[in-house]
Amino acid sequence: MSAPTPTYYLFRYPADLIDVWTLPDGTRVTLRPVLPQDQPLIADFLKGLSRATRQQRFRGVGAFSASQLAQMSQIDYRYHLAFVATIKEHEAETIVADARYVVDDHEHACADFALVVDDHWQRRGIGTRAVQALSEVAHRRGLRWLRGEVGNDNPAMLAFAQQRGFLRTRHPDDDTLLRIEKPLVSPRGGKRGKGGKSAGSQRGGWLARLLPQSA
Ligand SMILES: CC(C)(COP(=O)(O)OP(=O)(O)OC[C@H]1O[C@@H](n2cnc3c(N)ncnc32)[C@H](O)[C@@H]1OP(=O)(O)O)[C@@H](O)C(=O)NCCC(=O)NCCS
Repeated sequence: MSAPTPTYYLFRYPADLIDVWTLPDGTRVTLRPVLPQDQPLIADFLKGLSRATRQQRFRGVGAFSASQLAQMSQIDYRYHLAFVATIKEHEAETIVADARYVVDDHEHACADFALVVDDHWQRRGIGTRAVQALSEVAHRRGLRWLRGEVGNDNPAMLAFAQQRGFLRTRHPDDDTLLRIEKPLVSPRGGKRGKGGKSAGSQRGGWLARLLPQSA
């Protein structure tokens, strides 16, 4: 009996979304859509996060399986878009941040987002740049809302979200979480389309969709 033929999914890599800038200390940061071959870099990045940072982003996920890492690095760039921010250390590329959104299965005008910046690289504007990139792409692709869930014990993300113009509301099902959401506007300031109602009436489960599912 012949071996089953493997199935491959090939998606066009959106190279036009790559952005490079220099931090005040001279470090060059590259923000780029994730690639399948980033899987080991993502594994190293996740291992390097402090317990608190990991908990804030992944809310209790333990070790990541190969299948979960594959879900984070093999994406379609359309319904699931992920950026990694990388720096070069001793000629090797290291991931210092991960920001992603997943379009709502039912309400295609909304995407749920999450981000995490390595502890040593926080407070240098990398998160801001990453969310700006996610918002701009989402807007260009016709989405109207970006939304997320944040632990109510996460002042850094709540301050970040407030600074970036997200509205904060109570979570209907979990009082340890808050919802944040933002209407997507063009860089010139006009809202896209008309009558985009608040995404706040959506079902729960957003967080789960941004956590890699177990194998
Ligand atoms: C929240 C987080 C993503 C912010 O990323 P970052 O790259 O450090 O953010 P920036 O440097 O772009 O900060 C932008 C603004 O956010 C606010 N902010 C960010 N971190 C803050 C902190 N620790 N305390 C208070 N305000 C903070 C500030 O207003 C800051 O502007 P300023 O530095 O000019 O004062 C990062 O702290 C992180 O990864 N936390 C752990 C994971 C997490 O909580 N993810 C959110 C779950 S979706």
